[in-house]
Amino acid sequence: MMKEIIIATNNKHKVEEIQQEIGKKIKIIPLKELGFREDIPETGSTLKENARQKARFVFEKFGKDCFADDTGLEVNALGGRPGVYSARYAGEKCSFDDNINLLLEEMNGKTDRTACFKTVICLIENGEEKYFEGICKGNITTERYGNKGFGYDPVFIPEGYGESFAEMSGEEKNKISHRGKAIRQLIQYLAKK
Ligand code: IMP
Repeated sequence: MMKEIIIATNNKHKVEEIQQEIGKKIKIIPLKELGFREDIPETGSTLKENARQKARFVFEKFGKDCFADDTGLEVNALGGRPGVYSARYAGEKCSFDDNINLLLEEMNGKTDRTACFKTVICLIENGEEKYFEGICKGNITTERYGNKGFGYDPVFIPEGYGESFAEMSGEEKNKISHRGKAIRQLIQYLAKK
């Protein structure tokens, strides 16, 4: 029987990216298919704590294997901020646009524009936890480029590339992105079983 696994997120962009990478190898069940549309608490102080918290929450609620990802953008000139607080950087309930505006404002005049995205995935299988990580280095632009993707994609150019994540197709982004790397490790792990 094909393996079934729940993705502990309500972020449709993440579900799309992850499903694109996983293809037909594993059946992914988004939370909305289980009728769950609430926000899952995320109160940890590290990406790993948050990924674990989201995966545990879903495992305890539905009693099925699941995984959660938590991602942060670490900007060197800002001492690693927004990091684990990337979603709420510009305040509670802020939009992707609000976050980008604040980032460009804080980065105004900064010459060191290096940054990286980090993703941590927590898989819970038969109650046991396993972690996978992916990192993508790059630079923060001075203005927005492109309208694909989500979050900080329009202002992040991955190292060695001439366009932002928001100018790339989902497939191109997945090949080099933090989440793509972490997901491929998860797939490899699941495929070995
Ligand atoms: P989360 O806590 O893992 O949902 O992600 C935190 C925030 O990071 C999101 O609200 C997005 O703003 C941003 N983010 C996560 N993944 C990406 C990505 O692949 N590209 C751009 N921004 C992202």
